[in-house]
Amino acid sequence: MSKKSKNSFAINRRQLLASSLALGTAGVAKSVQASEVGPSNSPPNLPEWTTYLGDGVDVAPYGLPSEFESHVIRRNVPWLTATAESSVNFTPIQNLEGFVTPNGLCFERHHGGVAIIDPNEYRLMINGLVDREMIFTLDDLKRFPQTNKFYFLECAANGGMEWRGAQLNGCQFTFGMIHNVQYTGVKLSDIVKETGLRPSAKWLLAEGGDSAGLARSIPIEKALDDCMIVWAMNGEALRPEQGYPARLVVPGWEGNMWIKWIRRIEFGDMPYLTREETSKYTDLMTDGSARMFTWVMEAKSVVTFPSPENPLNKKGLHQLRGLAWSGRGKIRRVDVSLDGGRNWNTTNIHGPILNKSLTRFTMPFYWSGDEMLVQARAVDETGYVQPTIKELQNVRGVNSIYHNNSIATWLVNKNGSVENVRLG
Ligand code: CO
Repeated sequence: MSKKSKNSFAINRRQLLASSLALGTAGVAKSVQASEVGPSNSPPNLPEWTTYLGDGVDVAPYGLPSEFESHVIRRNVPWLTATAESSVNFTPIQNLEGFVTPNGLCFERHHGGVAIIDPNEYRLMINGLVDREMIFTLDDLKRFPQTNKFYFLECAANGGMEWRGAQLNGCQFTFGMIHNVQYTGVKLSDIVKETGLRPSAKWLLAEGGDSAGLARSIPIEKALDDCMIVWAMNGEALRPEQGYPARLVVPGWEGNMWIKWIRRIEFGDMPYLTREETSKYTDLMTDGSARMFTWVMEAKSVVTFPSPENPLNKKGLHQLRGLAWSGRGKIRRVDVSLDGGRNWNTTNIHGPILNKSLTRFTMPFYWSGDEMLVQARAVDETGYVQPTIKELQNVRGVNSIYHNNSIATWLVNKNGSVENVRLG
């Protein structure tokens, strides 16, 4: 790899430190020239906003983002669903940094609209194959030992529109059915210690307190492993659209199972075969059969810059940025290709690298103004490698909606604009 190459290329850390590509000669920042004529708010002039008093405290008792960030919002695709009450919107992952999703930007997925529940009237009922059927108030739940964990929540349909080809031109619409927050709550296994469990209990039914009564079956091994009942996200009470005052957390498994506004857990000896695990959230295979109970969200990654919403606007040194995750554990490595998968470069992954949590990666690269085909490929701690769409289609065909974790391709055009494309 040579600096004289006319092609764009990835830069490893040693090259970056040793190289004249470092910021000074790459022209990222302008040197100070007092004689420069520019906008009146630019140095060396005093900006206009230094000449008057700003707002005092309490103008916004609950703080809001800067007015200049008003484009950073959840968005939906109106033609995807018939009604807003049973619909989905998308997290603007292309605008986010680090690995925490702000509460107000966490994508929404409702089946009967948002339930509005007075926490004083909230109850969680546990029944079925337990020693003691019990009803808990929110305060009762908060008396259990507390657990604080970061987990990603991904809808099984994230990327579901892309099975047959590139369809939606944006990071937000192809990857945005995901968020990553810190949950505060109690382990379900601790609640079960209180109710007791009959030996014949092999499954549970988790039922929501929304108008859809959304319900899913979960095997007992998962329930007692790491599932939680939570009442807070990122340090504050759950937002109404995320299940206030309490929801189920099913780490690494498809978002539909993370029952919001949870009102009841019944233990039984077989799965309950609800609508949401028979007619929906199954995977239609090429032989006409449908796979049920495909729960785990396999390793996946997305490049958020450059991306359709974040084009390249100048040649030279840039920091590629993205997110990776795996429902089976920690991210071990993320590779990025700038040439459609011919050559791969190992990125820098940024800690904390947590179990079943979004993980941030970056990679410096030099853009010469040529076309690039940008891809990311995640590898998790089990050794699982994120597949190409061809590899996935060989097993699954093209009739699936859910569980598309294939490698996506962003085409960077010579003018710096970026498109979602399908190779081959
Ligand atoms: Co599934």
